[in-house]
Amino acid sequence: IIDVEEKLIMPGVIDVHTHMREPGITYKEDFTTGSRACAKAGITTFYDMPNTIPTTTTLENLLEKKKLASKKSIVNFGFHFGGSKNDNVEEMKKVLRNGEANTVKIFMNVTTGEMLIEDDKILKKVFENSELVLVHAENDMIDKAIELNKNYGKGLYVCHIPSAEELKKVISAKKNKELNTKEHPIYAEVTPHHLFLNTEIRESTERNKMLLRMKPELREKSDNEFLWEAINQGEVDTIGTDHAPHLISEKLEKITFGMPGVETSLALMINAFNEGKISLETIQKLMCENPAKIMKIEKRGKLQEGFFADIIVVDTQKDWIVGVDDTIESKCGWTPYENWKLKGKNTMTIVNGKIIYENGKINDIPKGKEIKFSE
Ligand code: NCD
Ligand code: ZN
Ligand code: ZN
Ligand code: ZN
Repeated sequence: IIDVEEKLIMPGVIDVHTHMREPGITYKEDFTTGSRACAKAGITTFYDMPNTIPTTTTLENLLEKKKLASKKSIVNFGFHFGGSKNDNVEEMKKVLRNGEANTVKIFMNVTTGEMLIEDDKILKKVFENSELVLVHAENDMIDKAIELNKNYGKGLYVCHIPSAEELKKVISAKKNKELNTKEHPIYAEVTPHHLFLNTEIRESTERNKMLLRMKPELREKSDNEFLWEAINQGEVDTIGTDHAPHLISEKLEKITFGMPGVETSLALMINAFNEGKISLETIQKLMCENPAKIMKIEKRGKLQEGFFADIIVVDTQKDWIVGVDDTIESKCGWTPYENWKLKGKNTMTIVNGKIIYENGKINDIPKGKEIKFSE
């Protein structure tokens, strides 16, 4: 029996978009530190992106990543396989056929990592052969991804949509009965940083000019507002953090794209609820329910044995200051929201039926499992 008093019980957050940096870039983050950051903040499952070193573009590399995460992660996890500029479609088919992944991530613009695909023949083959393609696509590349999905694909997930202009493209495609069908659905992801930050905040201090750089870049206040409106109109499917940690020294030295996000995403959204910007139902839908559906997370365990619970307990009325009233778990050691005063905080995280985080204390026994998906 757990007494949660007046607090809110909700499903654990599923973050479809994180870069946990293992293997190869573990001075920035690894599965231990990244999953502790998730546990603290109420994320019970993360999906990791393929732009590690080596890239997750072969079956062998994927299996190696799974082995590392199984040993180290304290929350549940899954992986997006990566499309390679060197045409790894045969390898991709093998991975999907073996059920080792059900999604493929491709990069259609320059960002952190060496995974840009410019060859149309490869792009076409990736869409032809996968169930759901997650894209880093900006501006015109969004139109191209929508076309590819319509002509060859079975599903498109547009990552981190930053602006009114780009989200309008995706919304109009989602509303178009020929472009968005049961056979090739389209999903829209928005990140917390494109909702809460903008160029005005970025340009306000010399430090922010360096720290608040990511792909896609922050846009105007009016874009923040458009994104909020779209969320409340039901036109956005998920909130994904694009947790992309880099050390502060790297960020200040030269322009480096990406920022940490898992430790603040839920608290920022609950704070937005307290400000009347969003309902709790919508938060649950975008951060828990829709990610589970899109990723086809299967019901684990047989009904008569009971499901394995991934549950969090949120104190929606807790006042706290980011980076002051908590310790940063991410190895990068910083957050773009430092000193922000928020109302609302995760207080307990239950993964696979076990309490792994309670009132500031992480129970540091690896208990995460690979998330399976149903056909
Ligand atoms: C990401 C990273 O650092 O891995 N960077 C970023 O600016 N978003 C890569 C990405 O998601 O594009
Ligand atoms: Zn990206
Ligand atoms: Zn704009
Ligand atoms: Zn990303």
